[in-house]
Amino acid sequence: MSMDLDKILLKFRTESQKIKHKDQIEELRIKYLGRKSGILPRITEKIPQLPPAQKGGVGTQVKKIRAEIEDTLTKKISEGAVNHKSFPQDVTIPGQQRNIGSLHPITQVIEEVKDIFHSLGFTWVDGPEVESDEYNFQKLNMPPDHPARDTQQTYYIDDKILLRTHTSNIQVRYLEKNKPPVRILAPGRAYRRDMPDATHLPFFYQIEGLLIDDRSSMTDLLGSLDFFVKRFFGKNTKIRVYGHNFPYTEPSIEIEVYHPKKGWLEILGAGMVHPKVLQNAQIDPKKYRGWAFGMGPDRLVMLKYGIDDLRILYNNSLSFLNQF
Ligand code: PHE
Repeated sequence: MSMDLDKILLKFRTESQKIKHKDQIEELRIKYLGRKSGILPRITEKIPQLPPAQKGGVGTQVKKIRAEIEDTLTKKISEGAVNHKSFPQDVTIPGQQRNIGSLHPITQVIEEVKDIFHSLGFTWVDGPEVESDEYNFQKLNMPPDHPARDTQQTYYIDDKILLRTHTSNIQVRYLEKNKPPVRILAPGRAYRRDMPDATHLPFFYQIEGLLIDDRSSMTDLLGSLDFFVKRFFGKNTKIRVYGHNFPYTEPSIEIEVYHPKKGWLEILGAGMVHPKVLQNAQIDPKKYRGWAFGMGPDRLVMLKYGIDDLRILYNNSLSFLNQF
């Protein structure tokens, strides 16, 4: 009996080496393991009639052979999956269609603002969103308890570290390391303790602009911003300029653009950089001067595309985002 089993195994080995097509795998499986007339099941059936001394040995041998056959056939199947020559696949079946994403409208607007200011010689830099009280407030002429801090309440990590309330934190940070002339943009996220409504959210984007040299003036600031607005919205766009107060610019202004549904919308604050800010960055205010602005790309998106609720920009609805 055990002689027969050895022969069966050898026969299987030679036959399995000759497999050329996946149908032959199945044929061999049926021949050796098939429940009705397979060679091994037929032997198993006879085991109970064997003399007791042989039963155990034959049983184990059959098990071993079955395991080898199953193993070999499984390997043949997986080889077939990669072996295209012997098991060709239909290469004319159309591929799966994938959705191609697009840049978020806020990102698109930030890129456009960068492009426009690039044509005026501005490059761009990054600033930290988790910032110290020092760079977010104190070095910008807002000591502790300064009333201007009231409009910029934020999330404090501890007494000294907070989520920045504006991108103006870049001003002294950048000027400490880079001496004039300077022309930079710093886009990024800012955070404030605001109740969400159609035009406010507790986090939003800003783009800081900073220019320092030895001759710039308020007229240059107004001219550059007017140039920007006309490039961005079209040459007939009207703006309103207001006097304002920021502790880190003197004089200070705000600029508004008309939204057909919301009326005049503030898009940026700006002004001539305060001499104390320059001093805080070890720059001599008698030699150097300049201007800065902080604009809100979220508001620019609302105006450009006639959106009347800011919140839709942040709820990740594909039916909205697919339009951009
Ligand atoms: N940081 C101001 C704000 O968030 C904007 C600003 C930037 C004003 C730079 C003047 C100069 O409202």
